[in-house]
Amino acid sequence: MHVRRSAAVLASLLLSAGSIWAAPAYASTATPRIVGGDDASTTATPWVVALTTDGGQFFCGGTLVAPTKVVTAAHCVTEALATGGMTTKSPSSLRVVAGRTDLRTRDGMQVRIASVWADPGFRDVGTGHDVAVLTLAREVPYRTLPLVAAGDTSGYAPGTPAAVLGWGRVGESAAPSPTLKSVQVPMVADKTCATEEADFDAGSMVCAGYPNGGKDACAGDSGGPLVVDGRLVGVVSWGDGCARAGKPGVYTRLTSYRDEVSAQLGA
Ligand code: ARG
Repeated sequence: MHVRRSAAVLASLLLSAGSIWAAPAYASTATPRIVGGDDASTTATPWVVALTTDGGQFFCGGTLVAPTKVVTAAHCVTEALATGGMTTKSPSSLRVVAGRTDLRTRDGMQVRIASVWADPGFRDVGTGHDVAVLTLAREVPYRTLPLVAAGDTSGYAPGTPAAVLGWGRVGESAAPSPTLKSVQVPMVADKTCATEEADFDAGSMVCAGYPNGGKDACAGDSGGPLVVDGRLVGVVSWGDGCARAGKPGVYTRLTSYRDEVSAQLGA
């Protein structure tokens, strides 16, 4: 599966999401996982949010970094134009859901978006700049996660344990999870990742995963947090399949975009 198929994957997620969550079969799913992960809760990690359409269909994750600000992936909130350009999705078509571990419930709150900023350099996930900031229409009363400090690349040291959270697929061809999952993965050296992922660019991306795979983010986890030491260091961006051996997950390297992102947090 190639990385540039993320739009198609998203589309299939959108089409399938409603019916999947309505199906009682979900209750008997034997292995409730992200890929290889564990159950998580928005009580413990209140800063993880879900992005849905105005119709309530889940499609991406995000991170609350200020009471009205959510960091997510640019590919979650942009659409490719036939002319080759990109357009940002209308804020009115998007919602942020906070405080809802199980997306089948009405726990927590659903909030409207006042404005959407996507990195203007974003074209597709293979060329970086995969970061966006949503400004919420009102403050939400949930604990926020701080952005990585300017220039603090220590969290990217190979082997550093990082947590990734989301409601994405629990296997490469499985359904997204109705409940929040988290998984811990070690950061991967840029040199290693460059040999394993064809489109990897160390200036704009960072990789995490085990050499033998088994644990990873997957489709639907996009936009969600990669966390080291209580700081948001990355955004789920892309991968070659999910949890495959020798194919670590690829994340937006947030230290590279910190100035642009912080500028969006001021408003
Ligand atoms: N692009 C995917 C999405 O839209 C996220 C893929 C992450 N994949 C991975 N193997 N880490 O949700």
